[in-house]
Amino acid sequence: MSKPEVEAFDKLVSFLNYPMFVVTAAADGIRAGCLVGFASQASIHPPRFLVGLSEQNHTFRVAAGATHLAVHLFDREHLDVVELFGSRSGDTINKFDRCSWHLGPAQTPILEDAAAWFVGRILDRFPLGDHVGYLLEPVDGSPPHELEQWVSFRDVRDLPPGHEA
Ligand SMILES: Cc1cc2nc3c(=O)[nH]c(=O)nc-3n(C[C@H](O)[C@H](O)[C@H](O)COP(=O)(O)O)c2cc1C
Repeated sequence: MSKPEVEAFDKLVSFLNYPMFVVTAAADGIRAGCLVGFASQASIHPPRFLVGLSEQNHTFRVAAGATHLAVHLFDREHLDVVELFGSRSGDTINKFDRCSWHLGPAQTPILEDAAAWFVGRILDRFPLGDHVGYLLEPVDGSPPHELEQWVSFRDVRDLPPGHEA
């Protein structure tokens, strides 16, 4: 049973709706990627972005050896790719056999169905709790032409994650 103040927090965050991202990484020839909701711009000048990766995830273990992460935003028409990255684990399947991608900056996989993406150099890693924060400096990317139906938390809140958080 959680404490009242935690219950209040849990209730509050359950009402939030925010963009969902697919974050990919590569290290030592191994590619990984997962669905991420804990992510946000963190600074304007200089531009910075913060990604929270669960220590349980295959992506976390690959990202530990990576220099860059790619952050993708998807339109709802490609919800199938988003669900693949959120509901399956690289510990058991190769997600990159099941979607279109190409190698981007620093050998980081870029998902071709994404509506927009950027690659960030990892500046810092620090503990956030059961997630590790990755502070990114954007170094390359492709902005959206148009983006009205981006995948949000509400679209995937009932998706069973490939790994428990
Ligand atoms: C709605 C939702 C939000 C999620 N948010 C995050 C997140 O912010 N960070 C994270 O590391 N995993 C998050 N996950 C979990 C991973 O995307 C999921 O466990 C994935 O299958 C892990 O894949 P991997 O083991 O190949 O890395 C989320 C999953 C869902 C369904």
